[in-house]
Amino acid sequence: MEIDPEEVGSLYRTLAGAVVPRPVAWVSTRSPAGVDNLAPYSFFTVASVAPPVLLFAPVDGPDGLKDTPRNVRETEAFVVNVVTEPQSTAMNATSATLPAGESEFDHADVERAEATVVDAPRVADAPVAFECSLYDLLSVGSSTLVLGEVERVHVDDDVTTDGRLDVTKLDAVGRLAGNQYARTDGRFSMERPP
Ligand SMILES: Cc1cc2nc3c(=O)[nH]c(=O)nc-3n(C[C@H](O)[C@H](O)[C@H](O)COP(=O)(O)O)c2cc1C
Repeated sequence: MEIDPEEVGSLYRTLAGAVVPRPVAWVSTRSPAGVDNLAPYSFFTVASVAPPVLLFAPVDGPDGLKDTPRNVRETEAFVVNVVTEPQSTAMNATSATLPAGESEFDHADVERAEATVVDAPRVADAPVAFECSLYDLLSVGSSTLVLGEVERVHVDDDVTTDGRLDVTKLDAVGRLAGNQYARTDGRFSMERPP
């Protein structure tokens, strides 16, 4: 089969079904009114290593900008929390569409901690959390790309070996299409050519 994007109503299912597995940025922000917001975003990747910049892509909702990008635009701060399987049910609960004045931390009963250097909360039990300051907001069609420079990283000692982050201990989850998720414990290795 061949798909002409202009002939289908939306390419969402094909994009989300083929670009897999996607890591999940569980993004925490604080509104100017002081409401702590938390939501998952799987259109997410590393944009740059030097400087360290992360990128996620909120797609506009029916009312335009979602709460997360709106908060980032105002506060210029957010935290990307890494999601593991024990937290996946809570992560999913935080994707509920709540009024801006209601905190997903309370809705999903997620414990929060204060970030060290940016004005946003973080997920207390996340094995890794990246505190970010706004690097840029880019409008691409119906999405607003949020780029954030990493200002501080929290790494739980339980996911380290010899003082370094150990991916075999992290066991982050990835999103597939629809309600499907992947674990990252089905690993294999390959030597990279020079
Ligand atoms: C695992 C997962 C990944 C998601 N990824 C995205 C995404 O990349 N972009 C997006 O616009 N919405 C995504 N969503 C939906 C948002 O989480 C949802 O619209 C949420 O209500 C946004 O919250 P906010 O308005 O507090 O930012 C995802 C939902 C789930 C469960």
